[in-house]
Amino acid sequence: MKLFLDTADLDQIREACRWGIIDGATTNPSLVFKTGREPRELYAEICRIVPGPVSLECIALDSAGIVAEARQLAEIADNVVVKVPIIREGLIAVKQLAALGIKTNVTVVHSPLQALLAAKCGATYVSPFVGRLDSVGQVGMEMIHQIRTIFDNYDFATEILVASARHPLHVLESALAGADVCTAPMEVMEQLYQHPMTDVVLKQFLADWAKVPAKG
Ligand code: G3P
Repeated sequence: MKLFLDTADLDQIREACRWGIIDGATTNPSLVFKTGREPRELYAEICRIVPGPVSLECIALDSAGIVAEARQLAEIADNVVVKVPIIREGLIAVKQLAALGIKTNVTVVHSPLQALLAAKCGATYVSPFVGRLDSVGQVGMEMIHQIRTIFDNYDFATEILVASARHPLHVLESALAGADVCTAPMEVMEQLYQHPMTDVVLKQFLADWAKVPAKG
């Protein structure tokens, strides 16, 4: 399973890329707002740093506007994937963008049927928001299992990009469910490699090593 970093923060992106575990990045308008940066310049920098696809979100809500915006975003770099919301106009735009060879990530998905429509329109990725569903009392991961089944039943090439991951269990369950990608914020990425037993054992090993006589 690929791991994308869900942020627009350049320091976080540089650090996570240094670890070598990041396959791509996803941004959204709220994440860009947090940086206080001018979007186009910021997007170009993110695309230069990340060694894989970078999702940049459209703001327009009509199909013509989405296509026009997507064309501009796609010019920023070769690794741009345009995020399009799962609305009727978004689906119309995704079909046109697929024909133009522009990669899309259909976002703000909260049901398997929305994902099915996105796949039928030729979306490159579909982004189901698991954490947001959990927060309204529905089981977000159940949606991922259902989308996996639908996509496998009909051989859709659209990749399932689990979004709105709030904790390591979301990443683990995404991998077990056969998701293609999971995008997560930096805090979750850090929790993926940390384990209290690792710290205990490592501390013990180093303490014992310090007592070994006559080392080289
Ligand atoms: O980038 C899209 C998605 O991951 C947003 O997640 O944390 O705002 O629900 P969140």
